[in-house]
Amino acid sequence: MKEIKIQLKSADNAYPIIIGINLLRNLVGELKRRPIFANKYIIITDSGVRFLYGEKLLRLLKRAGLDSLLLSFKEGEKNKNLETIRFLYDKLLKRKVGRDSVIVSLGGGTAGDISGFVAATLYRGIPYIQVPTTLLSQIDSSIGGKVGMNHALGKNLIGAFWQPKAVYIDIDTLKTLPRREFLNGLAEAIKCAAISDEALFLFLQRNLEKIFKQDAGILEKLISRCCQIKAAVVQKDERESGPRKILNFGHTIGHAIESLAGYRLAHGEAVAIGMVAESKIAEKIGLIERTDTLAIIRLIGKTGLPVKTPANILSGKIIEKTKFDKKNIGGVPKYSLPCGIGKVRYGIKVEEKLIKSVLKEMR
Ligand SMILES: NC(=O)c1ccc[n+]([C@@H]2O[C@H](COP(=O)([O-])OP(=O)(O)OC[C@H]3O[C@@H](n4cnc5c(N)ncnc54)[C@H](O)[C@@H]3O)[C@@H](O)[C@H]2O)c1
Repeated sequence: MKEIKIQLKSADNAYPIIIGINLLRNLVGELKRRPIFANKYIIITDSGVRFLYGEKLLRLLKRAGLDSLLLSFKEGEKNKNLETIRFLYDKLLKRKVGRDSVIVSLGGGTAGDISGFVAATLYRGIPYIQVPTTLLSQIDSSIGGKVGMNHALGKNLIGAFWQPKAVYIDIDTLKTLPRREFLNGLAEAIKCAAISDEALFLFLQRNLEKIFKQDAGILEKLISRCCQIKAAVVQKDERESGPRKILNFGHTIGHAIESLAGYRLAHGEAVAIGMVAESKIAEKIGLIERTDTLAIIRLIGKTGLPVKTPANILSGKIIEKTKFDKKNIGGVPKYSLPCGIGKVRYGIKVEEKLIKSVLKEMR
């Protein structure tokens, strides 16, 4: 078992990230050990994870004599919306859940974002802990306190910063994760390595097969390192006013493609294409050597993630869509681009002509 501490600027905002196997079973003990006591524990999860782990966790909490409740919503990104949030508020208020309760966010990034937002807003904020069960949520979304929901006009447009009290990562839960979901997380791991850790990049190159076979030791190393990277970035810039923007590598073009594909492409697949495009852009403007671009593209390709722009999405549309990214200022997208393996720069404006030529090359 590994423990990483995340210490944010305000003194009361420090929390542990605990990574290990069989953690769900030991969660009750952990909750008691690290005073996250509450009069009531409310597990919030989605309909898929409910039957895989939610019911079991509820039984464990109840068996330990803890007053607990399990709420679930229909799985899937399309349900990360106000309707689901309202449904959860209704249930919590009708059950007279008080301020002395703790929300246990169990599941992938969708469950984490939704239940974290409920925690951030119910009675102006109650504590919550993250128990992520997808690779993406274990290395990325459960850390850093970004919570929220989608709006019909775009992804994650409504939200808050609300840090969890702890993050419990049980690697065993990945055993039931479908391969496509696993790949989603792997795309983010490649991003982490490409922008900030050459050793992690080499580790990924060397251990891809073991990662897919879910070798516990290798997975623990991978997840711990990604968590350390995310924690370090969040510590520097909790509210994304500067350095946290490095995490957007691959996401400017990736998000545009994801929304134009009508979510037919998984997030990780879109980000993979985005990383290929943005690495090529970085190369064309002289930020990164061709050998490094090729290494990034080769690693992405080796995982089975896509490296080409979908034929049915026009380059012009992708470029237009990047202008509506919520992170833009004045409608001008600014890119986070690699400048070597493990190095990145953010806030870079790129000429449309150049983006177009890269997207054309990637057909
Ligand atoms: N808050 C952040 O900082 C942040 C960062 C990145 C992404 N996100 C958000 O995360 C969301 C995507 O998260 P995700 O990729 O984890 O998807 P997800 O939460 O939608 O889960 C994907 C599917 O996997 C299932 N699942 C979850 N754990 C499982 C397991 N162990 N075994 C079998 N099935 C399992 C779920 O039921 C669901 O059907 C997006 O909404 C994205 O915006 C947030």
